[in-house]
Amino acid sequence: MNKKPSPQGANTRLVHAARQTRGMAKDLVNPPVERASTILFDRAEDLYARNPEQRHYGRFGTATHCALGDAITELEGAAGTILAPSGLAACTLALSAVSKPGGHMLITDSVYGPTRNFCDNILTKRGLKIEYFNPRAGADLQSQVRDNTCAIFLESPGSLTLEINDLPAIATLAQARGIPTLIDNTWGAGWFLKPLALGIDYSIQAATKYHTGHSDVLMGAVASRTEDGAALMHNYAYLNGNTVSPDDAYLVLRGMRTMGVRMTHQQQSALKIAQWLSTRDEVMRVLHPALPEHPDHDLWTRDFTGSSGLFSLILNPVSPEKVHDFVNALSLFGIGFSWGGFESLVIHCDPQIKRTAGSWNATGPLIRFSIGLEDADDLIADIENSLRVLS
Ligand SMILES: Cc1ncc(COP(=O)(O)O)c(C=O)c1O
Repeated sequence: MNKKPSPQGANTRLVHAARQTRGMAKDLVNPPVERASTILFDRAEDLYARNPEQRHYGRFGTATHCALGDAITELEGAAGTILAPSGLAACTLALSAVSKPGGHMLITDSVYGPTRNFCDNILTKRGLKIEYFNPRAGADLQSQVRDNTCAIFLESPGSLTLEINDLPAIATLAQARGIPTLIDNTWGAGWFLKPLALGIDYSIQAATKYHTGHSDVLMGAVASRTEDGAALMHNYAYLNGNTVSPDDAYLVLRGMRTMGVRMTHQQQSALKIAQWLSTRDEVMRVLHPALPEHPDHDLWTRDFTGSSGLFSLILNPVSPEKVHDFVNALSLFGIGFSWGGFESLVIHCDPQIKRTAGSWNATGPLIRFSIGLEDADDLIADIENSLRVLS
């Protein structure tokens, strides 16, 4: 378990994390890319001995996987981490691992759409009752907890609409009833938010985004607060045959080494652009929790140490055609899903927003930006130029 507070700065720890993991060559900076299904044993007696020091089979992971898992464990302050082939797979695996037959799950209403689809289409078929709650619920979530509640799933902020969950309040009420709490922590990335230190049990990452940082790998991770939680996730992942490519694990770990500087730059640019957008007549509201006018700004200030490059805005009402014209007129922003890469992206979001707990009632179209590493002034000039199509 890696929970001792370190006197070193976060970037120092990120650079040095997992450099002594088993199997690392002493004279190389990076881990080897170890590709293996078969692991050979010296003697027949060793084949079933299950010696924890002896690798067993490729699905358990090689030095490359161990190094990435250990680095995420260090970043999140976790007891252990499992890797999954995508961020969505990490969410579904963790939800499945904590689910109970006949159980009830509370899910934040601003949850990532495909996670919601998994709950509605797979978990319900397994007999679970899924209930969505207002992302702005705190201690009052207590009223929705039932005797058979087996998990509370959070995402903070929501990745389209940017509401912040009250993590300590929800962790406290869940711990009092022995209910596991899980968070999709992709926005804070374990860099700007440490949910395990706030009492949340599982921090889930779409490492596809900021960890990788280069828009070329899909990867997920589940970091557990306790040894028991880590054992549950490891066992569940193993029983399901969950595994990821060592080449991908290598690329994600390589991306992680620069995650701190990238996210710090992206934070500054995104904030500058968000502040500028909030002065524009075409914009009804900017959804960025680091802006003082954001309704959850106080929660964000309390729990986060910074903000990532992802935020949204609501335009004053215009036709869908005008929204398309605006997005199409942007020249420095790619039109595409995902976020957290080195390049800026934009999507219009309204078709994606599905709510059942009555937690969304915006009257204008929603646009989401992922701010990359370009110069902020160039991105502002590009947006300013595109906004002309709305007038
Ligand atoms: C908040 C959030 N969680 C999870 C995911 C899923 O990640 P992946 O694309 O790696 O499956 C995404 C992807 O966009 C996301 O935005």
